[in-house]
Amino acid sequence: MVNEYEIKKEICDIGKRIYNRGMVASNDGNISVKLNDHEFLCTPTGVSKGFMTPEFICKVNENGEVLQANKGFKPSSEIKMHMRVYKERPDVNSVVHAHPMYATSFAIAGIPLTQPIMPEAVIALGCVPIAEYGTPSTEEIPDAVSKYLQYFDAVLLANHGALAYSDTLLNAYHKMESVEFYAQLLFLSKQLGGPKELSKEQVERLYEIRRKFGMKGKHPANICLNAKEGKPSCHSCGGCASKAESAASDSDLVAAITKKVMQELGI
Ligand code: 13P
Repeated sequence: MVNEYEIKKEICDIGKRIYNRGMVASNDGNISVKLNDHEFLCTPTGVSKGFMTPEFICKVNENGEVLQANKGFKPSSEIKMHMRVYKERPDVNSVVHAHPMYATSFAIAGIPLTQPIMPEAVIALGCVPIAEYGTPSTEEIPDAVSKYLQYFDAVLLANHGALAYSDTLLNAYHKMESVEFYAQLLFLSKQLGGPKELSKEQVERLYEIRRKFGMKGKHPANICLNAKEGKPSCHSCGGCASKAESAASDSDLVAAITKKVMQELGI
């Protein structure tokens, strides 16, 4: 039997972490946890996620309808986005949405995180695509995110933020941290003349490690196997043989354009 009060406390702790780490400003961001197929706990709308106590947390059903909420609290305005993840990913038990500074900047610039630059990011995430822009609180964001759910455990939301999900709340939060760390490293290495990417072979070796350890969740390492057999695969992480060439030319192009702009700006 799950202790709901303990889970509410954990949601508040993770809310503090995302707020204290600057992954959200003001009242932004939202968090949810699946209790069972028909009950979910979620953060309320319009409060700072850094200052919540367990009475703030609402309970909804699989349609996002309120089952329990204390006076003055309503479920997150983004509950439809969370519910779409649970519906399409039965392995997911928690969803975290935030607006981390670097990841959101990439989402605003329209640059997905696809360059393989360090082993941890390659193993944990592979690459992080950008779901097309949607108006918050409508079905547009769930619809945009939907097509990436079977291939990735984190996506950027165009001009908005990032979404991460996993089997536990802590793991979903850690995915969000990994996305932000990856985005930050990518941004900084671009300022230093552009990252030296891991080679196709190095990425494939890391993917092999991930497969060997049977790591949970969806990841390009598994899709790359599809690509080799001509089945649908992800877009351009650089890890799979058939997509490697276009990945290299995409990132070369981005690096060349960045260099040119910086030269012209005299940076
Ligand atoms: P809520 O407070 O309604 O969860 O919305 C915050 C947010 O970040 C919307 O994108």
